[in-house]
Amino acid sequence: MQNAGMAALGLDWRYVACDVPPTRLREAIEGAKAMHFVGLNLTVPHKLLAMEFVDEVAPSAREWGAVNTVVFESRDAEGQWRPLGQLEKPEGPVRSVGHNTDADAIVRSLRDDLAIEPRGARILLLGAGGAARAAALRLADEGVAGLWIVNRTQAKAEDLAGEINDRFPAVHAEAGYPDESIEILLNATSAGLRPDDPLPLDLGMYPINRVDGVYDMVYRPAVTPLLAAARAAGCRVANGLGMLLHQGADALELWSGKAAPRDVMRAALEHEVHG
Ligand code: ATR
Repeated sequence: MQNAGMAALGLDWRYVACDVPPTRLREAIEGAKAMHFVGLNLTVPHKLLAMEFVDEVAPSAREWGAVNTVVFESRDAEGQWRPLGQLEKPEGPVRSVGHNTDADAIVRSLRDDLAIEPRGARILLLGAGGAARAAALRLADEGVAGLWIVNRTQAKAEDLAGEINDRFPAVHAEAGYPDESIEILLNATSAGLRPDDPLPLDLGMYPINRVDGVYDMVYRPAVTPLLAAARAAGCRVANGLGMLLHQGADALELWSGKAAPRDVMRAALEHEVHG
């Protein structure tokens, strides 16, 4: 996806995947900085840890509590910090800036791929880990009407609902299943990645036909057991491929300062992930 996007923009950059244990994350970020990398993406389990290891935390990462994109910056001729990818020749010190592009990506993907407007919607959120927390905070900020949070570990759902109530008093947030129909069911647990995983939703507790659209952040397999059940019940469905696309496209825009070619990136992503 990124290499296709960079090629379409005429950038002579390469995107490579590196396996880094969490104990070496600080050194890895410092090493990339020393080598004048343009930037980094981080995924599980680095997104929370990286908050401590970047030189600057951008508002998006501070707001949603996680870093998935690092931009390396240096000063331009006027002394302003600019992304390395947008400077002719980096001079002087380089700094790392941590951003979050995941949170905006979920809102955009719900709107585009599920064709449901999050603002004013009632949402049942499955999960209360890092991905669920970023989504819940961003959706509350977007102005959803209600957020019901269900998690295997109930205490974490209660903590997250409490945090939403504190930070966004206009949003109704509670741990547990709603007793009304809802617009969006959003799976932010990792259940569904393996074929023998249990459904992240107890269908006895909440019938899926009371939902307009079901979004699963899992994108491989393309049709998770949750999405199969939702489709059979007549719900609109979307997997997490759109979220993956938009977080990556937004990162490319931060590094390059150019509009990301999202159609090219989506085609490359679909080919790579689903064949
Ligand atoms: P991420 O950064 O991807 O959100 P995480 O913070 O480890 O990763 O969160 C994983 C989420 O998936 C949690 O909500 C977890 O539930 P617990 O808080 O009870 O651990 C949920 N999860 C993982 N495997 C699950 C399973 N088999 N069934 C239900 N929930 C599961």
